[in-house]
Amino acid sequence: MDQTDSTALVRVQDVGVQRQGRWILRHVDLELQRGKLVYLIGANGAGKSTLAKSLLGLTEIDEGTITRARGLSVGYVPQRLAVNPNLPLGLRRLMTLTGRFPRPQIDAALAAVGLDLLGNPPVSTLSGGEFQRLLLARALIHRPDLLVLDEPAQGVDAAGTNVFHERIEEIRRDLDCGVLLITHDMELVMDSGDDVIVLLPHEHDDPNPYFGTTAKPTSEGREAT
Ligand SMILES: Nc1ncnc2c1ncn2[C@@H]1O[C@H](COP(=O)(O)OP(=O)(O)OP(=O)(O)O)[C@@H](O)[C@H]1O
Ligand SMILES: [Mg+2]
Repeated sequence: MDQTDSTALVRVQDVGVQRQGRWILRHVDLELQRGKLVYLIGANGAGKSTLAKSLLGLTEIDEGTITRARGLSVGYVPQRLAVNPNLPLGLRRLMTLTGRFPRPQIDAALAAVGLDLLGNPPVSTLSGGEFQRLLLARALIHRPDLLVLDEPAQGVDAAGTNVFHERIEEIRRDLDCGVLLITHDMELVMDSGDDVIVLLPHEHDDPNPYFGTTAKPTSEGREAT
């Protein structure tokens, strides 16, 4: 990856995303840097997943600019990944669905998430927590510059969540990569010294039958530490 400036991997400037006539994100600024972890928090529907997809170039933006470092390689754990349980998809096959990698590289990624001793079971038989770790392994296989993790510890129990986040920290140190971590785990966020981006809940164009508002959207990004 070429470094276009000091350490910025991705720079999001005054970004807005409009869908079906309403703004679901607006005036969002954010910068991701090598070796730094940034938490992205906010209520359901605040636009976290949309922002993640926007900065990865997976969805169109309607305002502002997103600049990615040239040649940036990214590992992404989406919030949802539908795997057809009827497909006889093995753990190792899932690791290579999007590209061929040398066996030692696959083993290293599985070891980084503690799945190296599990063999090659069908993905449909994995527990929720094991499946999330597999998604993380899949995101790190090519040793990316940036990891974008959309609620990667969903369905993981409290003790497992701590271990999961310790693993993410080890991976960040090992790869010296940037990490954008979307989470609802406020305890985790409050305990850390890393940057936190809060997407504020916003009101929509449509009258809301429960709250009776017709106010215009006021979504905004705010950076705090
Ligand atoms: N393609 C789309 N068309 C219309 N509305 C959309 C589209 N994508 C997202 N939205 C809406 O935009 C809002 C933000 O969605 P998003 O998935 O980014 O929220 P989120 O912060 O990730 O929420 P959660 O915490 O529940 O995952 C939601 O109200 C959602 O319904
Ligand atoms: Mg989401």
